[in-house]
Amino acid sequence: MTAHRAGLAALGNTPLGDVPGDVRRLDLAVLTGIAAFLGSRLPEGGPWTADQVADALGAAPRHRWIPGRWLTVLADEALVESSAPGRYHRPRRYRRAELAAVRDTLDRARRGLGYPETLTRYLLESLRLLPEQLRDEVSAQTLLFPDGEFGVAAAAYRDNLVNAYLNAAAVEYVRRLAPGRTLELGAGTGSLTVGLLPVLRGCATEYLFTDLSAFFLEEARVRFGGYAFLRAEVLDFSQDLAAQCGPGPFDLVIAVNAAHNAPHVGELLARIRGLLAPGGALLLVETCREHHQSLTSMPFLLSARPGGTRPERRDTRAGTDRTYLTREEWRDSLAAAGLTPRLDLPPVDHPLAAFSQRLFVAARNP
Ligand SMILES: C[S@@+](CC[C@H](N)C(=O)[O-])C[C@H]1O[C@@H](n2cnc3c(N)ncnc32)[C@H](O)[C@@H]1O
Repeated sequence: MTAHRAGLAALGNTPLGDVPGDVRRLDLAVLTGIAAFLGSRLPEGGPWTADQVADALGAAPRHRWIPGRWLTVLADEALVESSAPGRYHRPRRYRRAELAAVRDTLDRARRGLGYPETLTRYLLESLRLLPEQLRDEVSAQTLLFPDGEFGVAAAAYRDNLVNAYLNAAAVEYVRRLAPGRTLELGAGTGSLTVGLLPVLRGCATEYLFTDLSAFFLEEARVRFGGYAFLRAEVLDFSQDLAAQCGPGPFDLVIAVNAAHNAPHVGELLARIRGLLAPGGALLLVETCREHHQSLTSMPFLLSARPGGTRPERRDTRAGTDRTYLTREEWRDSLAAAGLTPRLDLPPVDHPLAAFSQRLFVAARNP
């Protein structure tokens, strides 16, 4: 079976024709929630600069850039009027009934995309707490991992149509590759790991599960304790990899929704290539578009750490507020690092492509 067919098989008979519409509806519902928040908080008059809006909202210094990011997107989507460059009128006020309709749309789109109800609760909560997030009284991490639980992350990274498809496709590829040594970077909640480990029994000699944050590693040691070949270690993929995990070689390197956190993706890919055995493969899952639905969380995660500086991107995203690379940028970066494409899924004309979450597999030539 091809990886694509394995991915589709995981979805059974779920109708997919409405996926692009539901992706768009979910994005617009969240963006409308942000417009409604600004409309209810900003004073009359204007037009306002992004700085004046940050002042009016009492934004903490590290989050002051975020209202400007929202306003740019809102103006692009005609939810805010911009009479001069960098100056924005207050969004209109929304009536209760309108907001209830937006919530209904959000929940229906969420259901259509196969996300559990947790996601609706999370999105509404992160909208409700925008003032507190901006003032740095509530952290985006707390909302993503309430009481240290992984439920929201599982909804976002595993329990939905596109991730069910991508994970099943990835598992099928890895089953055929039958790697001995695997290194996972930014493994976090292990949304793909959990499906991969069973197919690695019999071929794996080592699975090195790594993350920058020790928070995830203790959980992984307990949860995956039945796999004697798994080790969980701290590893920062912005630094020299071989110095942290040894010279390799690895038959497989994995990074699921993690590699875009590298300050320079090309440098990360070059380091990964250096660790791969000839014929070994890199498997990436990456979002390739900035979705509005992430605007209540992702910008807060991108702000500087308290007392620190904002992480700068030095690659094609330098000088922008972008989190992700596009599909074309990933393909170019993989090729530039000397990695040959093996998979790039879903096919661009498939309804699942509307999520803009993709599976890339690229191999080091033997
Ligand atoms: C969006 S989460 C995805 C986690 C995981 N792959 C999953 O699917 O559940 C991104 C992960 O990358 C990790 N991360 C971010 N920067 C990193 C770095 N420089 N080195 C290692 N891990 C990093 C974070 O701690 C987080 O666990």
